[in-house]
Amino acid sequence: MSSALEPRIDVLLGPDDLRHALRADVLAGLTRAPKELPPKWFYDEAGSALFEQITRLPEYYPTRREREILTSEVAAIAHLTRAETLIELGSGTSEKTRLLLAALSGVGTLRRFVPLDLNERVLRGSTVAIAGRYPGLEVHGVVGDFERHLGRAPVEGIPLVAFLGSTIGNLKPVARAAFLAKIAAHLGTNGALLLGTDLVKDPARLEAAYDDAAGVTAAFNLNLLSVLNRELGADFDPGAFEHVARWDPGAEWVELALRSRRDQRVRVAGLALEVAFAQGEELRTEVSAKFRREGVEAELEAAGLELLRWWTDARGDFALSLAVPA
Ligand code: AVJ
Repeated sequence: MSSALEPRIDVLLGPDDLRHALRADVLAGLTRAPKELPPKWFYDEAGSALFEQITRLPEYYPTRREREILTSEVAAIAHLTRAETLIELGSGTSEKTRLLLAALSGVGTLRRFVPLDLNERVLRGSTVAIAGRYPGLEVHGVVGDFERHLGRAPVEGIPLVAFLGSTIGNLKPVARAAFLAKIAAHLGTNGALLLGTDLVKDPARLEAAYDDAAGVTAAFNLNLLSVLNRELGADFDPGAFEHVARWDPGAEWVELALRSRRDQRVRVAGLALEVAFAQGEELRTEVSAKFRREGVEAELEAAGLELLRWWTDARGDFALSLAVPA
């Protein structure tokens, strides 16, 4: 018998809501020019497994770099924040969470862990694992979309919101500003934000990180078409599209797209929609913004947050920021 508290899970986005949100995104994204879909739909079972593989690729440095920083700074983070509730956004299955949980339990302040993720199965798995490992810790998972449901994450005591992995880079500047403001509102006066951001660097390294030699990122990108085929009865032929990863020096983001190899028409039965793709036409599937310290500081400030600590790995590839209400 385990003495662990039973984890609680609030499902704010059930299967029907998810289907509905996917339908709305696909209808809007495939009927506009240029075509674009939000990256959150990458993460079905297959996509989540492919992303785990990406994090271990030699070219994909962000996960290792962030772990390196977290490993050396986690005790400082625990002492500086004295957090009682750890809220993790887009948590996935990450072992980075465990580093944080261990350090926060070490200073003795942590009482509650609140992971928020779109994938209910992933979330259930991680809440059960964490609850088993930290008896006495209250685990309260939230199945939801962090942009929509952060306000529903329970805050009692001093909160620490962790938004790691540079997932913030998936948001474009306007959405980023709105979301940072929501986070700031959720922190009250005594909370803190721990933010992971990938940094601007040599474009060749950036593009390689999103176009690995083993083709895992290409498979991850193309898997989105399988999601649409399965969930919406579409008839995409993944072989008719090509993976594209390109650094945009103006926007300072890496852009992922699927480029049509020929003129073709695709039916999306579930939406009673037929979409034409011209040869060479791209469907943008993700932007992954890269950051500079001045930019992060300015964006935090605009949201009413003050940069308390800025840590990077030895090579200066990735940064962790600790920010508090200004
Ligand atoms: C999980 C959004 C941070 O942008 O680097 C990895 C996703 N996409 N390879 C990133 C991703 C292609 C990843 N984030």
